[in-house]
Amino acid sequence: MGIFASLRGSRIGAAQETLPVSDGVSSSPKRRWSNLMPLLVAIVVLAEIAFLGRLDVASNVAIVDSWADLFFRSLPPDDLGLVSLGSDRVSESESCEEWLERHDAVVYSRDFGKEPILVSGSEKEWQSCSVGCQFGFSPGKTPDAGFGSTQTSGTASILRSMESSQYYLENNIDMARRRGYDIVMTTSLSSDVPVGYFSWAEYDIMAPVQQKTEKSLAAAFISNCGARNFRLQALEALEKSNIMIDSYGGCHRNRDGRVDKVETLKRYKFSLAFENSNEEDYVTEKFFQSLVAGSVPVVVGAPNIQDFAPSPVSLLHIKEIGDAESVAKTMKYLAENPDAYNATLRWKYEGPSDSFKALVDMAAVHSSCRLCIHLATMVQEKEEKSPGFKKRPCKCSKGSETTYHLYVRERGRFEMESIFLRSGNLTLGALESAVLKKFNSLKHVPIWKQERPESIRGGDDLKVYRIYPVGMTQRQALYTFRFKGDADLKSHVESNPCAKFEVIFV
Ligand SMILES: *[C@@H]1O[C@H](CO)[C@@H](O)[C@H](O)[C@H]1NC(C)=O
Ligand SMILES: *[C@@H]1O[C@H](CO)[C@@H](O)[C@H](O)[C@H]1NC(C)=O
Repeated sequence: MGIFASLRGSRIGAAQETLPVSDGVSSSPKRRWSNLMPLLVAIVVLAEIAFLGRLDVASNVAIVDSWADLFFRSLPPDDLGLVSLGSDRVSESESCEEWLERHDAVVYSRDFGKEPILVSGSEKEWQSCSVGCQFGFSPGKTPDAGFGSTQTSGTASILRSMESSQYYLENNIDMARRRGYDIVMTTSLSSDVPVGYFSWAEYDIMAPVQQKTEKSLAAAFISNCGARNFRLQALEALEKSNIMIDSYGGCHRNRDGRVDKVETLKRYKFSLAFENSNEEDYVTEKFFQSLVAGSVPVVVGAPNIQDFAPSPVSLLHIKEIGDAESVAKTMKYLAENPDAYNATLRWKYEGPSDSFKALVDMAAVHSSCRLCIHLATMVQEKEEKSPGFKKRPCKCSKGSETTYHLYVRERGRFEMESIFLRSGNLTLGALESAVLKKFNSLKHVPIWKQERPESIRGGDDLKVYRIYPVGMTQRQALYTFRFKGDADLKSHVESNPCAKFEVIFV
């Protein structure tokens, strides 16, 4: 009776008055469900229509009739008697999976194909986005979101910036929230929709390594010596440790800067990738250009730069100024030992780590499309929390076994796929194999497939890198979150009916 009661309670609203028979339903609960089925269908349909608020009452009646008819013709009579709505029971002839597919199906009130997510700003339609996604102004429509802190009600305000929060305090996520931004898009992987400097399209990361022909160990392209970290001191400390540095930028310049940066870097064993601030996830083109060039980056910058490393030994990190001397020693050692040096670039020949691929693959979907997916997900979640939302069983019992209905989508896509786990096997292993089975059966092609350089695209086999609940940040998804074993997954699934997950393939 769950679905029925909740519909009568709220969603049906005005429509109830046009159907006086609904009283008969609640006063005689022992009548066979089969007799009530058309009525129930009629009410569900009516409720749907009332909820959408699209049609007037007069036209409702005609639609109800035809829908009820349709429902009757499409179901064998037996099913009508046996299916028990709102409880966890299911007929003998039907599997729990089939039953759940039917009863958990949801028609959300907004079809993003017809009514795309609208973000105010310069005109652009993101055609390849997996959810309707439009930027621009549409007369008479309230945008879902807009850039800037002051937005009219119903429009989410977005902060989008690729600058460090040490220069632009507002870019700090907590600060942005306090200033009233609903959606934060910064380089922080903890922001709602991260905007990174990295992408396969922007950088030819797998470009081949060239001969290191320069006498100086390292090249520097630092435009100015001032910065809110110790990058100038680090430069001076390396020089003091007798590391020869060719400086093409404004800071300690000793070379003509009118050169192609990446082509120049390719000739050096090391590249000084010194950011202007040491901030988590703030990793700019300085680092990625060094990777393209196959010039080992010596980093002053993000304390978590290792999260961005194509392999654990692919960079040197001056975490604090006291490290400069030992980093200088390591540079000299590597410069004098070709095999050891070559090992730092092994990822160029053998491919980067899965964690690096999983990070850079994120950018295969443009941040504007990821913003639309984020907004559309919020729209649906809001509807799910509304009191009139259809109650779904989300699980089904047959004998002593319970089947749980879960949803999963690939990161970067909007649509969800159904998967099922049995209570006797509610484990991480079973989750992963259910995901693989589902996506293999769909002949799914990972969203990054065309973006990644061909040499590291891999074959057609899907490989799961992470599965995490929808709503997590990329920092959690990629680095900090893991279910703590099967019991943790079990409790998550039990406490989140129809739990939704995202999967990252590598
Ligand atoms: C570096 O290692 C790769 C294999 O990992 C090899 O193909 C290449 O020739 C090596 N280069 C040098 C200069 O030793
Ligand atoms: C549980 O799931 C795993 C992974 O799919 C499978 O290998 C195993 O056989 C299943 N165990 C049971 C008892 O069904």
